[in-house]
Amino acid sequence: MPKQPDVLLEIKDLHVEFRMDEGVCKAVNGISFNLHAGRTTAVIGESGCGKSVTAHSILRIVPHPPARTTGDGILYHRDLGNGQREVLNLLEMHPKGKEIREIRGNDIAIVFQEPMTSFGPMHTIGNQIMEAILLHNEGMTKLEARERAIELLQQVGIPMPERQIDSYPHQFSGGMRQRAMIAMALSCNPRLLIADEPTTAVDVTIEAQILDLLHELQQEKGMAIMLITHNLAIVSRLASDIVVLYLGKNMEYGSKEHIFRNPLHPYTQGLWRSIPKLEGELTRLVPIPGVVPTAYNLPSGCVFYDRCDVGMDGVCNGTETPPAIEVEPGHFVSCYKYA
Ligand SMILES: Nc1ncnc2c1ncn2[C@@H]1O[C@H](COP(=O)(O)OP(=O)(O)OP(=O)(O)O)[C@@H](O)[C@H]1O
Ligand SMILES: [Mg+2]
Repeated sequence: MPKQPDVLLEIKDLHVEFRMDEGVCKAVNGISFNLHAGRTTAVIGESGCGKSVTAHSILRIVPHPPARTTGDGILYHRDLGNGQREVLNLLEMHPKGKEIREIRGNDIAIVFQEPMTSFGPMHTIGNQIMEAILLHNEGMTKLEARERAIELLQQVGIPMPERQIDSYPHQFSGGMRQRAMIAMALSCNPRLLIADEPTTAVDVTIEAQILDLLHELQQEKGMAIMLITHNLAIVSRLASDIVVLYLGKNMEYGSKEHIFRNPLHPYTQGLWRSIPKLEGELTRLVPIPGVVPTAYNLPSGCVFYDRCDVGMDGVCNGTETPPAIEVEPGHFVSCYKYA
């Protein structure tokens, strides 16, 4: 038996709904998966399926209201040293409270999907990174924080960091800004790094560099990475585990080997079929045929039923959503075909 990797975070039956004038948007509708130290979990699924909302829920930065977040827990296993651990339920923490702010500063960091929103335009990159460093390191002097910021910029491959540190965000290219964002996220030495499409704004060469960098840092520091991406080549290169989401629900979840070699959910199979077969090269996810129902009006039963080519009338479109079935150790499929 291979050694079970350390569980770092457990997301258990997470639900997030937005109460809007138009109605209730069920953005996340019962998502469960675990993140492990030293492993990268790729979260994939079409636009609007709840990837970013799930990520933001972990840090409790989804705006309440309009959101309402419920579930069985988001359990963070914090290492206290000498083999001791404590389990904290992030879902029970007050979104503006001291406890979750401490987690955000010290344990879990995020690189946001929109590169421009992460840095304010009025301050230099350096000052913003230094501010983050000083916030998490009481007693550190400004000069020490500056040294540390330069070191971080160097680590993420910004050339001449001692000069670039005084640049404003608009003076950086998209790729440089992404790197600076990663530097800022790494400034607290997180146990978990959430990367929400960290390379959408950059070209392929830079993308490869940034992802290799993340991978190296992971090897070095043993952190867990939750990687949200549409790019299957990236998934195939970097993921250890994969979560496939559709309309705010897990469709399939398992190791990369499970999901690539033996995709079982009709949705996952559809995604895989929709990849243009270029010689040995995987490309981006292309939507599979059919219309995605809206999160404002979810069908009962299996949410994928309307687009499924093997759906069973009277079973899959009933009142109950399919449970997650463990078809082989660690490989879960939410589909009545396997019940
Ligand atoms: N602040 C908000 N208020 C209302 N609805 C929201 C809010 N944030 C997200 N939603 C809705 O929640 C659903 C899930 O959105 P989310 O941003 O998580 O999708 P995603 O999977 O990250 O998509 P993409 O791949 O396009 O980034 C969508 O229907 C979206 O419109
Ligand atoms: Mg998103």
